[in-house]
Amino acid sequence: TARRPLIAGNWKMNGLRADGLKLVEGLVAHLRSGDQAFDMLVCPPTTLVAEVAAAATGSTLLVGGQDCHAKEKGAHTGDTSAWMLKDVGASCVIVGHSERRQDHAESNAVVKAKAGAAHAAGLIAIVCIGETLDQRDRGEALSVVTSQLLESLPEGATPENTVVAYEPVWAIGTGKVATPDDVAEVHAEIRKQAREKMGDDAARLRILYGGSVKPDNAKELLALTDVDGALVGGASLKVEDFWAIAQGC
Ligand code: G3H
Repeated sequence: TARRPLIAGNWKMNGLRADGLKLVEGLVAHLRSGDQAFDMLVCPPTTLVAEVAAAATGSTLLVGGQDCHAKEKGAHTGDTSAWMLKDVGASCVIVGHSERRQDHAESNAVVKAKAGAAHAAGLIAIVCIGETLDQRDRGEALSVVTSQLLESLPEGATPENTVVAYEPVWAIGTGKVATPDDVAEVHAEIRKQAREKMGDDAARLRILYGGSVKPDNAKELLALTDVDGALVGGASLKVEDFWAIAQGC
């Protein structure tokens, strides 16, 4: 099954207007230089989603949010709904990033509700899962990732409306990348388990790797059978680094 790779940038809490617009202009210029064999997505902070989406209009660059609320609207001060993201030009939203799970105590049930809201709003949900270092050291990586996956994917998840991102927590922002063997093992398990939810369609599900992806390790990771793209943090803040990563597809 041919799965089109997705190279996704998560800017996290980085970027004032000028930085964000410069980054997008650089990526749009690269994307316009020819046909690409991958999809490219940027997820700016909420303050910049509308402006970045406007700047990306007419290009193939996709724009997404970094989180959404599970409800459509209401008394939820400071939150952003999936419908609001969609309204300003987003096509995707990250849910369940480990920083949200840690900093905001998001459970799998919360992540599932958010992913369901994303689907209802017409957004692709990028559902993040991944074990901590303690869990890996205890030999629990596969069981943790499996339960996160099965408990975080909402009913109605398909390869069209859902992308899974495997991000070992200990590899995020640390410069410690998981070994290709470890990544291959976990991604194969994710695809196998996704069959519980999607049946044979799981063959078309895109599974991204995230955690210290850089230009010098991207090619090796992206070449792995069940790695269908990358979710990039730090290196997505520089046009040339992010573009170089995508060239590993
Ligand atoms: O969402 C992106 C990841 O958390 C990876 O971040 O590339 O800075 O390690 P990083």
